[in-house]
Amino acid sequence: MLRNHFHLPAAKIYLCGNSLGPQPKAAAAELEKEMASWRTRGVEGWWEGDGPEGGWLGFHRRLEDDLAGIVGAAPQEVTVANALTVNLHLLLVSFFRPTGQRRKIIMEAGAFPSDQHAIISQLKFHGLDPATDLIEVKPRPGEHTIITEDILEAIQEAGEELALVLWTGVHYYTGQFFDLAAIARAGRSVGAKVGFDLAHAVGNVPLQLHDWGADFAVWCSYKYLNGGPGAPGGLFVHERHASDEELPRFAGWWGHRERDRFLMRREFRPEQGAAGWQISTVPVLGMAPLLASLPLFAKAGGMTKIRERSLQLTNRLYALVAQLDGLTILTPRDEKARGAQLSIYVPGHRPDLEHQLSAAGLVVDYRQDNLLGTEGGILRLAPAPLYAELEEVENAVAILRQVLAV
Ligand SMILES: Cc1ncc(COP(=O)(O)O)c(C=O)c1O
Repeated sequence: MLRNHFHLPAAKIYLCGNSLGPQPKAAAAELEKEMASWRTRGVEGWWEGDGPEGGWLGFHRRLEDDLAGIVGAAPQEVTVANALTVNLHLLLVSFFRPTGQRRKIIMEAGAFPSDQHAIISQLKFHGLDPATDLIEVKPRPGEHTIITEDILEAIQEAGEELALVLWTGVHYYTGQFFDLAAIARAGRSVGAKVGFDLAHAVGNVPLQLHDWGADFAVWCSYKYLNGGPGAPGGLFVHERHASDEELPRFAGWWGHRERDRFLMRREFRPEQGAAGWQISTVPVLGMAPLLASLPLFAKAGGMTKIRERSLQLTNRLYALVAQLDGLTILTPRDEKARGAQLSIYVPGHRPDLEHQLSAAGLVVDYRQDNLLGTEGGILRLAPAPLYAELEEVENAVAILRQVLAV
């Protein structure tokens, strides 16, 4: 769709945007603009700039409109700050408030390890026991993905004991795209708070965070958002919490109201909305590439249009991989239940597979299996719709066929 806007590794098919998106061509210029401002203005760069936005003080605001369009939120409901796991902890401080019998958390079994670490450490921080207070919903025996009804039933069953539903948008391992609207509705109907980890969903599938009514969401900017290695993360806080100054939070001066932050008072008055969860000075140089990458989503026609293209690519990939003997696609066949990524189970121990595929011209990622408990491994292939081509999908499968000899 916008392939010419990206630097892609030479002579390779790049299907690894689920791990690190490629560099937008305009990123270096955006970074250089801020480097020039630093060079020529020094500290005055905080207040003065070339564009209408002025200096770096409100730098995060330059990203909020585009980000809001990508996740289906109002600009005030989103911001860029910190990193995914840090933001998850910060939002758990605000939205996981166990009291009395309402103290349990529901999440998917086999969640990304950082989410498991965050949730388990938060439970322990509150003096709770993960063995009894963490409910992990699993696939049914013999299945790889989780059925929506089982998630909704677990939420209903936990009922008044449930403090929080933390769910992933697109599962990092299986590629399953969950019914987030139904999960948010179910969680809120029993009086629990609802948060989403959208690391593999943002910029990949259409999201309607505001309308779905989730309390909060977190994501990283280095996968489908193409913000660069270790780019600062994003967060969403629903508008109903925007001006709740009583909400407990771990505060820092960058979350204080911008208009009187520099009066340097002891009293903390949070900025309205998601920006009130910022903590430290905005990392201008880390965020600058996002000024190049985020506008590309609107330029491509928005997430609905991007999704149409994505389905063409991944449906083709699914059909071709399904013809290869000896491999199992873990990702659902139903296009509504997946994003760009397909996760493919390859039997046997193949520690060199990623390198072999790269040498043959295909960049993907490979992990030894940790969920199914087998000797095999998982290949993840994600034709990201902003830059992948149908022909590449076809050539990628030819390379798989040759390297795997299937
Ligand atoms: C689903 C998911 N959650 C959390 C993380 C951790 O993100 P970070 O290292 O930016 O905190 C990742 C990283 O890839 C992820 O895929």
